[in-house]
Amino acid sequence: MKKCIILLGAPGAGKGTQAKRLEADFALPQISTGDILRAAVGNQTPLGLAAKQIMDIGGLVDDSIMAGLIEERIAEPDCAYGFILDGYPRTTRQAEILCELLNRQGDGDLFVVNIHVPEDTVRRRIIGRRSCPSCGRIYNIYFEPSRDGNACQNCGDTLVHRSDDQAEVVDRRLAVYREQTEPVIAYYQAQGHFYQVDGFRAIEPIYAELCRILQLH
Ligand code: AP5
Repeated sequence: MKKCIILLGAPGAGKGTQAKRLEADFALPQISTGDILRAAVGNQTPLGLAAKQIMDIGGLVDDSIMAGLIEERIAEPDCAYGFILDGYPRTTRQAEILCELLNRQGDGDLFVVNIHVPEDTVRRRIIGRRSCPSCGRIYNIYFEPSRDGNACQNCGDTLVHRSDDQAEVVDRRLAVYREQTEPVIAYYQAQGHFYQVDGFRAIEPIYAELCRILQLH
């Protein structure tokens, strides 16, 4: 049965870190809307140019733009057996749109997992995050540094600090999360497909719990 996995959580909660592991171990594609938008920014497409202004100030890209982007992505052949959504849905309207898209696709097991981490911890995780622009591997100068200093230990490229990971933008992203994304938790709790994991732990035990919830072995 197709598995539709949604990872919720504040900015910096560890959605991308866990999604990349699930993708590598279980061959389910990670769909990170943040990564898709950053690629569009890098390629200077019309979407990228519009999204950059919003991302740089920590806001959210319009729901209807995100709907088109997600609809196209989950229709791709690599999603035939399921996918992991990281960063979508982010508003209650996005959750409703996704529900319509999944209903249209037919049968599938839906798992929604919120990775809960206290705000002071996510702030520190974001400020310390470094990522590889080539292979996408995520590091943290405080918690998970690269063995090769400022170079990616996978591919050797120089690590970067995301432009929206600066302290002032992080405050705005967290405020937007509280106002617009936290209500998505109640939306899924009401639907009964909802799990919560304690994200204030090391990466490994969180991953083990996710695998149990998702019934992946
Ligand atoms: P996006 O890229 O989705 O950013 P985000 O949700 O703010 O999430 P992050 O990528 O910051 O964090 P994460 O939870 O993936 O944490 P990570 O694993 O990296 O979105 C960016 C922007 O794009 C948005 O602000 C918005 O403008 C736009 N956008 C995207 N989607 C949109 C949508 N649906 N609608 C509208 N606009 C949208 O971990 C963080 C750090 O912590 C890393 O350094 C990692 O190494 C470390 N870490 C992870 N787990 C642990 C652990 N257990 N212990 C210690 N350190 C850890």
